[in-house]
Amino acid sequence: MKNNPQPVSGFSKLSKEAKIEWLCSRFFAEPEQAYQVLSGYWHLDSAVQKVHDEFIENTLTNFYMPYGLAPNFLINERSYAIPMVIEESSVVAAASKSAAFWAQRGGFKAEVLSTTKVGQVHFLWEGPSDWLRAELPGLRQQILEETASFTANMRQRGGGIQSIALVDKTHDEPGYFQLDFRFETADAMGANFINTLLEQSSKILSRRIESSTELTSEQKRIQILMCILSNYTPECLVRCEVSCAVEELNDVPELAPEEFASKFLRAVRIAHLEPYRAVTHNKGIMNGIDSVVLATGNDFRAVEACAHAYAAKDGTYRSLTHASVENGVFRFWIEIPLALGTVGGLTCLHPMVKFSHELLGNPGARDLMQITAAVGLAQNFSALKSLVSSGIQKGHMKMHLLNILNQLGASEAQKEKAKIYFSDKIISFAEVKAFVDRLQGYGLPDPKLILLSDDHSSLES
Ligand code: MEV
Repeated sequence: MKNNPQPVSGFSKLSKEAKIEWLCSRFFAEPEQAYQVLSGYWHLDSAVQKVHDEFIENTLTNFYMPYGLAPNFLINERSYAIPMVIEESSVVAAASKSAAFWAQRGGFKAEVLSTTKVGQVHFLWEGPSDWLRAELPGLRQQILEETASFTANMRQRGGGIQSIALVDKTHDEPGYFQLDFRFETADAMGANFINTLLEQSSKILSRRIESSTELTSEQKRIQILMCILSNYTPECLVRCEVSCAVEELNDVPELAPEEFASKFLRAVRIAHLEPYRAVTHNKGIMNGIDSVVLATGNDFRAVEACAHAYAAKDGTYRSLTHASVENGVFRFWIEIPLALGTVGGLTCLHPMVKFSHELLGNPGARDLMQITAAVGLAQNFSALKSLVSSGIQKGHMKMHLLNILNQLGASEAQKEKAKIYFSDKIISFAEVKAFVDRLQGYGLPDPKLILLSDDHSSLES
């Protein structure tokens, strides 16, 4: 950091140029260069840039992530090419490989088990809980009536408030109650819909208590603490499965199908028993899930938080996937809560999000849940397949080689030579650097020489 700048006030009110000027002049040794980096990522079309600028506060520029494609997904008999936004090399390749493998074996079978979302009004009240319980049917009716105009559109699409319950939490925390809502939000993720309804409902609740003729003035005192949806949506659940005869697990050269199935099942079992392994196992699943969630403009933080809470629902953190072999049939499935939307939010604003939705055939939320679960399952299948056979580093490092070469500023010709040279070698940053240094120091050697040579020291001669 160049210096230690004073706190700034009214930063959000400055123009974008002024914000950048403030930043570059205070934090960078070469302000002009810093400005070039930021402005280099602006969209050429100022109207598109403005759309991005207005997503958040204090936008300075855009932050690119690779947008890749995993083709050949067969899900419920329908073919998909699936957009994936992710920076980690080999994730898209792994999903694509798995998709192609399962497309030859019946594809992914997915079903949405439920789509219910949750929201809560948390409030503090010292009155008699029996009175409140007796009030609930009337309160429920009043909430439905007073929010009817707000919920009309959602109800037309099959959504709305499903239920309202009173939860007495006073044994955990003095005076603490919840109004606990269940919602159906159709194709919307529904966060704004739910939060608005909760805030309206909390006002109705307060009014009802404050205007009661049966309560003392002391009992009429209610404090609404917070009104917020829950990102834990265990009742917004999707299941996706692949299956085949064990003998069809035949594309791992080093393992017979039965041996592969047995090792695979053990790997899944370990991810059910051992949280250290389960977290990494589920992280691999989320590699696939998050990349689709991002590409389709959904909230990956919500999806992540919920998935991991669900993985720990019985008190121990476990695998989100399951596997079995029965009567010679291998089955592998995932059950995961995914609160996704295909309308509202970024879906109608971000040009690439719109593009993703069209690419997927403009799915509804239930379709998108199924597609996303399939990618998570595909990802986990690929990861476990590598782990129990050749190991994960082979595929990883192949993709990582390109990142190292880019980091070293290798030319296209040097990259091609490096790919050939390292095709049968262990890849490390030091080895790749040494190779590129030699190419740069001694000019481009004859590729035949590289192909013939196992020992790169021979390149120096
Ligand atoms: C890497 O991003 C994901 C894996 O570690 C997942 C796993 O171990 O199952 C390969």
